Amino acid sequence: MEMKRISPIRFLVFIAAILVASSSSSSSADDTKATFADMFEMSCPDDHFKTSDDGQIWHLSLDKEAGCGFQTKERYRFGWFSMKLKLVGGDSAGVVTAYYMCTENGAGLERDELDFEFLGNRSGQPYLIQTNVYKNGTGNREMRHMLWFDPTKDFHTYSILWNDHRIVFYVDRVPIRVYMNSDKPNNFFPNEKPMYLFSSIWNADDWATRGGLEKTNWTKAPFVSTYKDFNVDACQWEDPYPKCVSTTTENWWDQYDAWHLSKSEKLDYAWVQRNLVIYDYCKDTERFPTLPWECSLSPWD
Ligand SMILES: *[C@@H]1O[C@H](CO)[C@@H](O)[C@H](O)[C@H]1NC(C)=O
Ligand SMILES: *[C@@H]1O[C@H](CO)[C@@H](O)[C@H](O)[C@H]1NC(C)=O
Ligand SMILES: *[C@@H]1O[C@H](CO)[C@@H](O)[C@H](O)[C@H]1NC(C)=O
Repeated sequence: MEMKRISPIRFLVFIAAILVASSSSSSSADDTKATFADMFEMSCPDDHFKTSDDGQIWHLSLDKEAGCGFQTKERYRFGWFSMKLKLVGGDSAGVVTAYYMCTENGAGLERDELDFEFLGNRSGQPYLIQTNVYKNGTGNREMRHMLWFDPTKDFHTYSILWNDHRIVFYVDRVPIRVYMNSDKPNNFFPNEKPMYLFSSIWNADDWATRGGLEKTNWTKAPFVSTYKDFNVDACQWEDPYPKCVSTTTENWWDQYDAWHLSKSEKLDYAWVQRNLVIYDYCKDTERFPTLPWECSLSPWD
């Protein structure tokens, strides 16, 4: 696979944009170096969760008895959500690490959800990354991508940009998926309810790897995924609703740059579309004889 490089200039421009952005944010964990306990609640047996001594690096593990997950204490509506992950290495077939945002803790009938799912594989076989978008309990909007690196060797950054115009899934600052809103009322774009951010590791060998053919090899347990550098620059929810929720141009996510891909992002996005997409529900006419409405919206404008 061809290697992907981000030019230093582009990176600097991006950093500048983020710095400008942070100045208008209502919440940023960036400079405060929050520990796990400040930001998150965990739901797993104690021995399935470890942190480094300084609390900055978190390890979640899965074995035959249990998986592990955590979620933010707060909910957010619109902004930037980012984290570095290093995925289970070696034989990880059947194991899924999910990193997602959801309006509730559970699979409720009316939930909105934005998913990154990392599908493990046999040793030496490539991971796949699956993304999905749910609105009011309905998903079925999967895309699957290959990655241009081995996600088990090092930390890489996985981010979600969410505003009233679009949702963008980023891998190391490269937009791999752009999900557009329409300016007309619709039932496909989640933009009303605030979401928590979650991550978890679990056994999904009934579907994850080669469609469920490859089963989890429990002799290789525990399977461990590792996290650091959670970064949220977003509108934190307060009941009945926070000030930052009003769609004025005060917040960076309500400004032009957050609604459009930059020139260099367009190049990256085109490169990903050409080389790394292995499934796109918007191209699956067997499954959807009439393609969903959102598939006609252009990410290029
Ligand atoms: C959301 O889903 C629920 C349960 O399926 C349904 O009863 C409700 O009408 C839906 N709401 C909207 C706004 O589509
Ligand atoms: C796992 O590896 C096989 C063989 O290379 C590949 O066909 C498959 O897409 C990979 N990923 C998953 C999640 O099945
Ligand atoms: C599971 O792992 C064990 C230990 O490495 C190995 O001996 C065995 O062949 C593996 N089973 C499968 C189905 O890959």
